[in-house]
Amino acid sequence: MRNLSFFNYINGEEDDFSEILSGLENQEQKKINSKFFYDEKGSRLFDQITKLSDYYPTKKELEILDREYEQINNYLPANAMVIEFGSGSNQKISKLLKIIEKPEEYISIDISRNFLLKNARELAINFPDIKITAVCADFSDTNNLSKVIKNKKSKVGFFPGSTIGNFCPEEARELLKKFSKILGLNNYLVIGVDLRKDEKILEKAYNDSEGLTAKFNKNILSGINKICGTIFDVNNFDHKAFFNKNESRIEMHLVSKKEQTVEILNKKIKLKQGESIHTENSYKYSVDSFKNLAESACFEIKKVMTDQKAFFGIFFLKVKSP
Ligand code: SAH
Ligand code: AVI
Repeated sequence: MRNLSFFNYINGEEDDFSEILSGLENQEQKKINSKFFYDEKGSRLFDQITKLSDYYPTKKELEILDREYEQINNYLPANAMVIEFGSGSNQKISKLLKIIEKPEEYISIDISRNFLLKNARELAINFPDIKITAVCADFSDTNNLSKVIKNKKSKVGFFPGSTIGNFCPEEARELLKKFSKILGLNNYLVIGVDLRKDEKILEKAYNDSEGLTAKFNKNILSGINKICGTIFDVNNFDHKAFFNKNESRIEMHLVSKKEQTVEILNKKIKLKQGESIHTENSYKYSVDSFKNLAESACFEIKKVMTDQKAFFGIFFLKVKSP
């Protein structure tokens, strides 16, 4: 495929190893960064979750993209370079590339290498006139990203799915600042944000009746076993997800069914019965609280679109001078 190229900026796993170890050694609350969900199996499981009736965010975001087609076309520049942070599947980008007038380039950034490549290949076939670059990297790794994202064209950043919600507000602000630097003055960021709503709806989305979210949550331990050589037995853990009102976030945990010890190198990680490993936060914002966050990270708010029930919002942001 002549319109497809690939860059890999994820090398050894040494840094991952020490990050995982320090999270599991944490005395107050054991934790694993949610980015470790996304090995190939994790990406496939997430994709299946997005199709569940209980998991509303994907459907609501797609509803907005479909309904507001013309307005979005008016807001975004023609001939742009489109950069997606944490791309996942091609569902949403296929729509956006049709909405924007003659996009010239598409840069797809994701840490899940095989899933990224499979989707980039598919997209290159479906959009033969667009130059497509797949970049296997952490989207916060601005040093490497700036080697691929050149400063010529008008740029549209795309950060759908409410992946921003997986960062605590302080980290989210820092990440948005990094994106604003990569995109450059007067360029755009289109970002999907899950909105605060009835707790029952929120908790159902993370405790689906088919048990796929539980599988997704437990699969993180299989990934950790590969990276760290540990022998976590997923059968010794229960999935737990609940809405933490004070923090306005869904928390996902893996709860140890019994007292157990897992070895990492020469260290012993001890878990009591009922003790949990915190695997994910998924923050839920109000329109105003997310506007404030974006404004504090060098963005001007151009437009906010929600679905009819206001479950989900797409924010159109423009980079302003710091
Ligand atoms: N954008 C898609 C997928 C969301 S799931 C959607 O809207 O449905 C989150 C995606 O971000 C996954 O594909 C995962 O592999 C990727 N991801 C998570 N953390 C990342 C990081 N730090 N750097 C790059 N990609 C990341
Ligand atoms: C990718 N991210 C925004 C999803 C979320 O809803 O926080 C990941 C997910 N976790 C459980 N289900 C889906």
